[in-house]
Amino acid sequence: MSYIDTLIESFGPHIRPSHPTLYDALHVCTGLYPIRSYLEIGVHDGASLLAVLRSAPELSRVVLCDVERTIGDLPTRAEYHGSLVFLHGDSYDLIPQIHETFDLILVDGDHSYTYALADIRNSVPLLAPCGQLVIDDSTRPEIRSAIKWLEANAPVVHFFDMTDEQDSVSIYRRKPS
Ligand SMILES: C[S@@+](CC[C@H](N)C(=O)[O-])C[C@H]1O[C@@H](n2cnc3c(N)ncnc32)[C@H](O)[C@@H]1O
Repeated sequence: MSYIDTLIESFGPHIRPSHPTLYDALHVCTGLYPIRSYLEIGVHDGASLLAVLRSAPELSRVVLCDVERTIGDLPTRAEYHGSLVFLHGDSYDLIPQIHETFDLILVDGDHSYTYALADIRNSVPLLAPCGQLVIDDSTRPEIRSAIKWLEANAPVVHFFDMTDEQDSVSIYRRKPS
């Protein structure tokens, strides 16, 4: 049974998994290093958020960004009682306004090249030393091109990929400073 199956089992079918391998990848990330802070760009109805809330017991700070807010009271139902900020609007404008760092960042918003590149570029300075950057749908040409920028210009190392018949998830880690 995949990790998302266990989440659906406990949270019901209103959680619409868009990419189950993403949730398995997040589950792996949270198991490898303690995750105290999490930034998610592209929240939808909260399946990826739930995967992190349920598998990062040390989590105390969550920042979410989406043009729509559709997660309802999911964080409370997931028994998350730490701090949570929802940046409601366009990641292109909102992510550069963040002035804190995160142990884990998921980029899963607008999948056009312009937005994927902006979200990735804007996320890099927000990665804590050794922080993990998770990029969904990483074999799509637009995302792949944005990742080329990341690999050529950012202080990160490729960590691992997870692939299924739908697409891949790619994980990078910030180099220790
Ligand atoms: C693929 S869904 C995210 C799925 C979610 N991470 C999950 O796995 O459950 C993409 C989300 O990005 C949001 N989005 C699209 N363009 C955006 C933008 N410019 N800024 C912020 N969010 C955006 C959409 O509203 C949508 O909820």
